[in-house]
Amino acid sequence: MRLFLASDLHVDYPENLHWIESVSEIDYVDDVLLLAGDISDEMHLIERVLRVVKARFRHVVFIPGNHDLWTSRSGKGPSFGKFDAILSLCREEGIETGPLAIGKALIVPLLAWYDYSFGQPGPTIRRGWMDFYKCNWEGLQPAEVAFRFEAMNVIPDTSGFDAVYSASHFVPRIDLMPARYPEKHKALFPVLGTDRLETQIRRLGSQKHFYGHSHLNRNKVIDGVTYINNAYGYPSETEISAKTILHVADL
Ligand SMILES: [Fe+2]
Ligand SMILES: [Fe+2]
Repeated sequence: MRLFLASDLHVDYPENLHWIESVSEIDYVDDVLLLAGDISDEMHLIERVLRVVKARFRHVVFIPGNHDLWTSRSGKGPSFGKFDAILSLCREEGIETGPLAIGKALIVPLLAWYDYSFGQPGPTIRRGWMDFYKCNWEGLQPAEVAFRFEAMNVIPDTSGFDAVYSASHFVPRIDLMPARYPEKHKALFPVLGTDRLETQIRRLGSQKHFYGHSHLNRNKVIDGVTYINNAYGYPSETEISAKTILHVADL
């Protein structure tokens, strides 16, 4: 059994939706797909994609991303309410959202939100970051949202497993971003992720950690952990994302 990774499908773009719907119906029936967030802000598209991938893979693990939790196009209800609705949908469709053991391997999804541990946002981000308009956290600040999500994570006993793999939508450490990243894009760093994830990854003893959100494909080893990003990304992001599902481990 193989483990494949994809994230940031953003199927609001018809070409992205067409791509995921054209994934082979026979090549992956014994495999696992880890979907690391940002399918769409539209519930009917999240449902459509989860049904498509569940029909093609033996197991699917899904971690909601920030776009999945936008509610501005569905009445601006609470984003935690939408999160609960997504978990219910996953239960109905047989999609995993908690730790999944496959033989001697354990896959652990980690929920998170950015908490500005990567830096304080400047005026451009404070004015223009869409989550601030499209999510409804009922007055909670990002650090409080981050705390709520972290508290939901199940950190299982990993003894008895030969391999532990963890996954998040958000970036677990800012040095995964290239040092020579364009200065104008560095403004985004505060909303990319949180140090809280790195703490949980080390506590778990993960060999590999999979993440999305930055849309910047990476495969980098830091202090013994391999960090992999295989975001599909927006149609215009042809150079930073590979536009494929990636085989990341054998289970
Ligand atoms: Fe994304
Ligand atoms: Fe994202």
